[in-house]
Amino acid sequence: MRIAILGAMVEEIEPILTGLDPALKPDSPLDDIIASSKHINVQTIAANRYFTVKYKGHDVVVAYSKIGKVYAALSASVLIEHFKADVLLFSGVAGAINENLHIGDLVVATKLCQHDLDITAFGHPYGYVPEGKVYVESSEYLRQLAQNVAKEKGIKLHEGIIATGDQFIADPNRKEWIKKTFHADALEMEGAAVAVVCDAYDVPFFILRSISDAADMDASFDFDEFLKSSSKVSADFIISMLDKIIQ
Ligand code: ADE
Repeated sequence: MRIAILGAMVEEIEPILTGLDPALKPDSPLDDIIASSKHINVQTIAANRYFTVKYKGHDVVVAYSKIGKVYAALSASVLIEHFKADVLLFSGVAGAINENLHIGDLVVATKLCQHDLDITAFGHPYGYVPEGKVYVESSEYLRQLAQNVAKEKGIKLHEGIIATGDQFIADPNRKEWIKKTFHADALEMEGAAVAVVCDAYDVPFFILRSISDAADMDASFDFDEFLKSSSKVSADFIISMLDKIIQ
């Protein structure tokens, strides 16, 4: 089975790569990972790097797309078209909307929407374009698998709606609007783009985020402080998911 693991930022995939190659020091930056790993192969496609590694007999390809929906859609398409991914797992951080979500908590997307997609001028609802849909549902099978993993690890795994847009949200009013309009629990900048691509190709996908901030006035400060630690929380869980998928 070919498994793709995608993040948006380099910080989100460094702990994935070190988790996949036990010879690597945890906490290694990407340049050190590339220089010192004997198992990780690097390929550049469409101006982005893809890291392939054999993990317990399975082909795993890891990438970070860069921030935002366009880059995320491009990477997801390359992972499916070029690398023939059978399944795509996304790992990264998110801003919390739901008050029960705190920094470091894990949230799995049940379904995803684009909060910045707006052709309401033509009478359509927010997040909708003709022949599309407001919400794209993630794989129920992978979500169930994740809940089994969480139970084994004794971790609380939240589920909820994730809203995606090409905006870093650090504004209580915008956050409230996204909550009210989409009933979203968390927000970020790539998930729905990956969901749209995987849904179109009929590739099962799983979007996992660990909370880095509350999308409020302190968001940029908290994001800088917790990006690394929350990325690691998400990455560790994704490696456990991978172990379960290939079991
Ligand atoms: N990812 C993590 N925090 C975020 C925020 N506040 N806005 C958008 N994307 C995020």
